[in-house]
Amino acid sequence: PRVRHTADQETEFLVVANRLPVHLEAHGTAEPRWQRSPGGLVSALEPILRARRGAWVGWAGTTGDTPVAFHDPDLRLHPVPLNESEYRDYYEGFSNATLWPLFHDAVAPPEFKQAWWQSYRQVNQRFAEHTAAVAAPGATVWIQDYQLMLVPALLRERRPDVRIGFFLHIPFPPPELFLQLPWRTEVVDGLLGADLVGFQLPGGARNFLQLVRRLHRGESVAGGQPTPVLGTVRLPGRTVRAGAFPISIDTAGLEALAHSEAVRERAQRIRHRLGGSRKIMLGVDRLDYTKGIDQRLRAFEGLLAKNRITAQDTVLVQIATPSRERVEHYRRQRARVEAQVGRINGTFGQVGRVPVHYLHTTVDRTELAALYQAADVMLVTPLRDGMNLVAKEFVAARPDLGGALVLSEFAGAAHELPQALLVNPHHLSELEDTMAAALDLEERERRHRMRELRRHVRERDVHHWARSFLSALSEGGHGAVPG
Ligand code: ADP
Ligand code: G6P
Repeated sequence: PRVRHTADQETEFLVVANRLPVHLEAHGTAEPRWQRSPGGLVSALEPILRARRGAWVGWAGTTGDTPVAFHDPDLRLHPVPLNESEYRDYYEGFSNATLWPLFHDAVAPPEFKQAWWQSYRQVNQRFAEHTAAVAAPGATVWIQDYQLMLVPALLRERRPDVRIGFFLHIPFPPPELFLQLPWRTEVVDGLLGADLVGFQLPGGARNFLQLVRRLHRGESVAGGQPTPVLGTVRLPGRTVRAGAFPISIDTAGLEALAHSEAVRERAQRIRHRLGGSRKIMLGVDRLDYTKGIDQRLRAFEGLLAKNRITAQDTVLVQIATPSRERVEHYRRQRARVEAQVGRINGTFGQVGRVPVHYLHTTVDRTELAALYQAADVMLVTPLRDGMNLVAKEFVAARPDLGGALVLSEFAGAAHELPQALLVNPHHLSELEDTMAAALDLEERERRHRMRELRRHVRERDVHHWARSFLSALSEGGHGAVPG
């Protein structure tokens, strides 16, 4: 991105997230370069902020020197610094080895460490301070995700004049799980600093309201509100509302890209390269243990072993973005996935014809859209996922009505996309059968399902999500709301 340094100005509409939409990446001894940040949060919020000309407070992805505020070019970015020990304790530790696994059904055991919690508190304070310094009087501040759950209350202490929204991108667990957290009361009180707390699904909002009741943090009342707000918490002097706002994608942007010559040509080349008539199965994920990549590979291996498919007729392309690489569970997950890929190719491959193409890398948007378009079957099989934008992106990239979507029932997206082939990824033979059924789906049915899926992602795009959250936010409390 082009960067233009500017003097600080106050802003009416602010998004606060752990990551900025771009991050500085080291390149050997050369100057670090700006790259697009990974993950669904950035994919969703970037088009919103650009359209609304807001400002973004977040970390620049480096523990070295932090750049000053700049424009990129129509987005104002305010970097918040993290040092090496905060990166380890706040980011890798409390955010990604305590909260992330705990909130994802504890599919990996969460670790609880006092030093990580202290760092989390300290960094949340810093985010609150930076935000308080740049928010205009009466501004609207929209805080994002599990890394910053204390910021709503910390910001309210400093700036009672601003309107505060919070949105959680990951699942909010049932009280029995959440209550394991030694700092559960502090975290809930942090969230209750917001005027509106948003979740992906109604179940998450209900879990939160129940938890508030269990912890006696105010009087929580469920229902009695027009959706998407599902309940309120009455605190001395004010109320906090909770609701469900399923996040989405910039459907029009991706559709336009999907129609472009560059993408269509590239999709054809990919098909050709992989061997004209072979069916292509595709997985695109951050390399995260919640994504069910190993389950998917095991099912693919099962289909090969049982001769239901062969390396001659089917290929699996798995693109895995490097993610949180120093965290133990992530290291192990990578080793597991790479061993599986090696074993499958070693057992079922031939010279010049391997069944799995595995790339441990990020790809650009054109390449990603071309891959979606080249695929016969998209595999989205997380064990637990707040939403999963890959599923929605795949649908948006298929104006040809081609391709079948296999979707885990444990992804938030499954609640909105019942026309996908829904599957329980823990059930290996069911996963094998569903993958095989997707390969064999009759054309009429495939087109019918895709048409319905596309109708949904067109109506419920990311702009609809932002409008619905921000208008619910503007209905209570005070502060400016961007148009
Ligand atoms: P999460 O936020 O947990 O990573 P999502 O599916 O919601 O999961 O969002 C992932 C986002 O990252 C999507 O916008 C997707 O296009 C993008 N993405 C995932 N893997 C890659 C990759 N290898 N290269 C480029 N973009 C990727
Ligand atoms: C998920 C989280 C985001 C996070 C993203 C990428 O989408 O909900 O908050 O930014 O993953 O993970 P990272 O740790 O690289 O920021």
